[in-house]
Amino acid sequence: MRYSFLSMSHPPESAASAKLATSYRSAHSRSRELYKRAAAVMPGGNTRHSIAMAPYPIYAASASGCRVTDVEGDERIDFLNNYTSLILGHADPQVTTAVQRRVALGTAFTMPAPEDVELAELLAARIPYVDQIRFCNSGSEAVMLAIKAARAFTGRHKIAKFEGAYHGIYDYVEVSEGPTADEWGEADAPRSVTEPGTPPSVAADVVILPWNRLEACRELIARHSKDLAAILVDPMPLGIGMIQPREGFLEFLREETAHHGILLVADEVLNFRISYHGAAHAFGIEPDLASFGKIIGGGFPVGAVGGSRRVMSVFDHTGSLKVHHGGTFNANPVTMTAGLETMRQMTPEAFDRLNGLGDYIRDRLTRMFHDSGVPAQVCGRGSMFVAHLTSGELVDYRSLRGFSRTSPAYGNLCHEMLQRGMIISPRGVFGCLSTPMREPEADAFVDALDDSIGQLGIQPA
Ligand SMILES: Cc1ncc(COP(=O)(O)O)c(C=O)c1O
Repeated sequence: MRYSFLSMSHPPESAASAKLATSYRSAHSRSRELYKRAAAVMPGGNTRHSIAMAPYPIYAASASGCRVTDVEGDERIDFLNNYTSLILGHADPQVTTAVQRRVALGTAFTMPAPEDVELAELLAARIPYVDQIRFCNSGSEAVMLAIKAARAFTGRHKIAKFEGAYHGIYDYVEVSEGPTADEWGEADAPRSVTEPGTPPSVAADVVILPWNRLEACRELIARHSKDLAAILVDPMPLGIGMIQPREGFLEFLREETAHHGILLVADEVLNFRISYHGAAHAFGIEPDLASFGKIIGGGFPVGAVGGSRRVMSVFDHTGSLKVHHGGTFNANPVTMTAGLETMRQMTPEAFDRLNGLGDYIRDRLTRMFHDSGVPAQVCGRGSMFVAHLTSGELVDYRSLRGFSRTSPAYGNLCHEMLQRGMIISPRGVFGCLSTPMREPEADAFVDALDDSIGQLGIQPA
């Protein structure tokens, strides 16, 4: 079900499209031609389901700042930023220069390089709950390492995660990342729904918690407490529509885990872009471990696991090593250089300015929906936003699925936005900002959305 966007409808170009950027749908489209070749040699024509789009994707040629030019020569403003990973936008001049210099000096060694020490020092200095850190090549790996560390540290084997939350492609965290109503079971005790290809035994080791339902969580945690190594929580999960944690919910998780000797693992792969000091810090909690990725690699493949010295000692080969951690390209100097340059530019002031623009666009979106009479709720925080086209109460994954299943509009909306020169997700009105953006880009986005909704005559649930 999580790939529902694959079957989204692909409408004919609308009347408005003539004056907008739509050459990728034309008879001579290079994207169409590239996709035909891709589909012959890659199943589904891609190697990453999150960029699949019907009838075929738009192929990128180049990008600069907040604008991407496709292979037809059409330019769009990028409100996805490689799914939030490009906080400085594309081809930032300082990052580009630093990386070019580094590439000319060699890109990978069977030795460490100074840049990984510097990036580790920078992150440890900024994030209050990170004494030590280790790098890997993706957010999925970072989450996997955090879970292995928690198991090794506690000597327990189960983990708990939230229904609907996405944490990458490790078997255990894929459980119930997008269950359907006929799969998900009781609201107070959700079933563990595994992906095809996952051994059924995995389901028995993953406890599924309902987001924001404190009493149900308390009961489930207590029931499994003796076996639980970790509770994995993204403080504002995109898979749950960035519905904010209710007041006291994250604090409750912190207290409950401490009480039962369970580690609290914050997945900040996506949400680290909220704050200079880390997402969990911004939400007022101190996890035992955290996973990072996306922005800390400055546009290159990256992941990292960090936490208290005591817990991170499970990776220490000079002590009583418990978790082996290999990876040919871990902490490669190119990624480390790009990450360092990016994080140095992301000063507290840079975060404040970007997050201020986030407040601006969320406010403008809320007013636009109000003025156009479309019942909608705008979620998100920092430099990210999600607009839900419903007036229903948003609490957890199930409240979200209730209306999004019946809303056929999102795929078409994405196409309408592409035609108006805006890149957003085909899976909902989700977007994020980058530092090259200013109010005019945010205004252009809101106006394009207003226009698109009008064009489609959306009747919200
Ligand atoms: C919260 C969260 N965790 C983990 C991941 C996995 O990261 P990656 O795609 O780098 O493996 C993602 C990716 O979007 C994510 O959003």
